[in-house]
Amino acid sequence: MAQPVLQGRSILLVIGGGIAAYKSAELVRLIRKAGGDVRVILTRAGSQFVTPLTLASLTGNKVHEDLFSLTDEVEMGHIELSRSADLVVVAPATADLMAKAAHGLANDLASTALLATDKRILMAPAMNVRMWLHPATQRNLETLKRDGVRVVGPDSGEMACGEFGPGRMAEPAAILEAIVTTFAGPTAIPLPDGQAPAPGPGPLAGRHVLITAGPTHEPIDPVRYIANRSSGKQGYALAEAARALGARVTLVSGPVTLPDPPGIAVIRVETAREMDRAVEQALPADLAIFAAAVADWRVEDEAGQKLKKDGKAIPPLRLTENPDILARIARHPTQRPPLVIGFAAETENVIGHATAKRLRKGCDIIVANDVSPASGVMGGDRNIVHVIDEAGVTTLPDMAKAEVAAALMQRFAGLVGSGA
Ligand code: C5P
Repeated sequence: MAQPVLQGRSILLVIGGGIAAYKSAELVRLIRKAGGDVRVILTRAGSQFVTPLTLASLTGNKVHEDLFSLTDEVEMGHIELSRSADLVVVAPATADLMAKAAHGLANDLASTALLATDKRILMAPAMNVRMWLHPATQRNLETLKRDGVRVVGPDSGEMACGEFGPGRMAEPAAILEAIVTTFAGPTAIPLPDGQAPAPGPGPLAGRHVLITAGPTHEPIDPVRYIANRSSGKQGYALAEAARALGARVTLVSGPVTLPDPPGIAVIRVETAREMDRAVEQALPADLAIFAAAVADWRVEDEAGQKLKKDGKAIPPLRLTENPDILARIARHPTQRPPLVIGFAAETENVIGHATAKRLRKGCDIIVANDVSPASGVMGGDRNIVHVIDEAGVTTLPDMAKAEVAAALMQRFAGLVGSGA
């Protein structure tokens, strides 16, 4: 049974002073509908647009307004308030709140919470178009992004003040989607030394996720090999997304230039046969994702010495088939993982080929993408994927590979559930 996507998640919502604050009431409703718990910090300016009573009724929780409320400090201090949440969302993020957060000011409850938190922050900016485009705001935006703050919106359009352009707060549904995808990435602020903290309990807690990634190298002789253009980025992003959801992750990786993601058991291999053995040894798994671009063929009679150009005949390369790791594991007689996912990199008739591939390989879901040179997917940072299962095809929007990974993993987690 799929759970509501934000079940067990607690969100601290900071509401700044702008007309868009009325949309935040709707956002609260959507988060609660998705199973999440919401606590609100309402700035003094924010309370001019939406009342604490409205928000207390919608959240079912007390609304926090003042930095020096003695009762609050007894019940829950401002530090604890900012840390007890799993994610801090600022909506609307006014120019003033963004400036304070970018510069580390802490002169009211909202800015203090933003400085004190150890969790990721998602901001939905909303302000007049001139204020948004002002170099000061754009500088602050860059600083915040560098500090790891995620930003959703603003949208362009007619504004409450009568002007036209970027500055309208993203719609509540878009903010909700950004919240969901943020949870599939690391939810804690990255530590300075790049070490990811241990994941908290998430929807994949207690589950073992096995992922293959990258290309394989098939030797011709001791110095030459057959390879492909896979960078491994999508598979590595999937591994990080699985860990962020609480899973124990084994990543079987072909030769790539990416570093080992922290907290993940990485087994490095070269050839398809080595990958096949490593996958077998890593079983059992609750979820197996085959994102590697495994070479279909290898050279049948690999030369023991470097082939020489000696003026005689050009050496022929006779190929033989590699093990199909996905097809083998999907039909494993004793240890088939409950959920088996394949990838299909196609250059034409993407959906048609991938749909046939799902049946041929015996996996539950195929994630298909277009890797024709024009798509820029191979080696690039973005991807458009189609998720094909028994019920049909769902196409996800064009996103960064990390976001694609987050969205996919959230979906898979809903199917696998927690083993905790
Ligand atoms: O057949 P094709 O290479 O297009 O299939 C793609 C899917 O099958 C991917 O999930 C890939 O990781 C997997 N595969 C595999 N072993 C192979 C070939 C493909 O696991 N030898």
